[in-house]
Amino acid sequence: MPTDDSFGALLEYMETDLGFATSHYNDSYLDRRITARMRRTGCDDYTEYFDFVRSNSDEQAELLNSLSINVTGFFRNPEVWDGVRDVLRTVWESERRLKIWSAACADGREPYSLSMLVHDDAVIDESNVQILATDISDEALEVARSGTYEESRTSDLGDELSFLRDYTQYVDYDSSTNTYHVRDDVKRTVSFERHDLINGRPKSGFDLVTCRNLFIYIDTKYKQSMLETIADSLRRDRYLVIGKSETIPPELKSTFSPVDNRHRIYRRL
Ligand SMILES: C[S@@+](CC[C@H](N)C(=O)[O-])C[C@H]1O[C@@H](n2cnc3c(N)ncnc32)[C@H](O)[C@@H]1O
Repeated sequence: MPTDDSFGALLEYMETDLGFATSHYNDSYLDRRITARMRRTGCDDYTEYFDFVRSNSDEQAELLNSLSINVTGFFRNPEVWDGVRDVLRTVWESERRLKIWSAACADGREPYSLSMLVHDDAVIDESNVQILATDISDEALEVARSGTYEESRTSDLGDELSFLRDYTQYVDYDSSTNTYHVRDDVKRTVSFERHDLINGRPKSGFDLVTCRNLFIYIDTKYKQSMLETIADSLRRDRYLVIGKSETIPPELKSTFSPVDNRHRIYRRL
């Protein structure tokens, strides 16, 4: 972990001048991203990089861009989605309705995966299902609302979608542009809105909240209050799914009990 003052000075500059809330994120994550920018720009240490970024607006944009934690995918960690499918069915069988919140939804592939799973279940009536999807990033939400995804070198969308044997009923592929379009009926089940999990208010009445692969970047002192916001948004006995490498802090062991430890599925006590 960097201990020198120039790292701290750089973080302060990013917070006050560039408007990026560095204090919410853990140092090792920030260090990894900044070091990667230092390598790209040929800077040998934080002081040199600090001088460079301060006088170069293109690099300021690149740095902010590199910090937006936007990695996602359809049915990310496919094995988890078998557990999610069971949760959807269990709630549906007792309630005949489902209210789902995909928090930190990035470009929408997670909430659309949920919607496709709902549409794919012959027992669930999707007209009684609402999926709210939120993120702090307006840019990510814009892509999410469009429901249009371009194949890239780093993501094989057909492979991601193949979690569902017949995904072609839910997504159209345009081979001339290498683009996948989520179909309107899958889109209709999902609504998008901006929400900041650190500063935003809880919501209410949810049966399932997914909040995956955000906590790994967040400083421990914010993690607990974010999980409390989620707990307040969930109905009692209802479900939370976090990322595969994330954990519930010990202080919240009496709020969330594991239903499926391996897949990080919990129940609100
Ligand atoms: C790595 S992505 C996770 C996407 C998806 N949940 C998944 O697991 O594939 C993390 C997302 O968290 C969002 N994010 C970062 N800080 C946030 C905050 N304070 N409140 C809500 N979302 C936030 C980022 O914009 C990004 O889209």
